[in-house]
Amino acid sequence: MGLNPYDTPRGRLHRLADISRRQFLLFMGILAALAASLFGGIKTLGFLFPNANLEEPLAFTVDVEPDAITVGNPLQITEKRVSIIRDDSGYYAVYLVCTHLGCTPNYVTNVTNGTGVADDVAKERGARQAAEQIPNGWACPCHGSRYYIDSTNFYGPAPRPMDWVDVQYSPSGKLAVDRGKLVVQRGAGVTTKPEWRLDPKTKKDNGKTLP
Ligand code: FES
Repeated sequence: MGLNPYDTPRGRLHRLADISRRQFLLFMGILAALAASLFGGIKTLGFLFPNANLEEPLAFTVDVEPDAITVGNPLQITEKRVSIIRDDSGYYAVYLVCTHLGCTPNYVTNVTNGTGVADDVAKERGARQAAEQIPNGWACPCHGSRYYIDSTNFYGPAPRPMDWVDVQYSPSGKLAVDRGKLVVQRGAGVTTKPEWRLDPKTKKDNGKTLP
């Protein structure tokens, strides 16, 4: 009868090491599979239930004294895509999202420049008050759409005016903008001059929302 090579103290050690290695590899395989399922599961849950907290809040307080915003000098808050305009009737806030494909239009002091639209037409349609007769507005850098200071589109591929969002006085006396609340939203071809304003005297809005 031949000698079983494993039936020696050294052989038994080899066999034990062999088993342990196989068990270790099996264990690592199971661990990797579990980690992959866990990662996939978390990703799927994240997709199904997006975490709203990761997004920037739609409401914010303007870090400028309201009186510092004067007629003819809108406050551009480009990183929030909001412009606060003051005219003879009060404040309003335009949401700077081009209605063509969503770029951020730039503030320009001569919005008709290069469009062939006469200044008197711009003044007529731009909801300008007596104290604001400069042809300012917005020009979209992407495909050239132009908007009057009341956010009415008049040139380029933008199909409708930009929206206005809510702006109110906060308890601290600063202006608080809520981009989640539209106060003026106009459809294609609507050039009605919006009358919504936040009155600096009463510190209340006049409630004249559109539509
Ligand atoms: S995105 Fe503004 S004109 Fe196209």
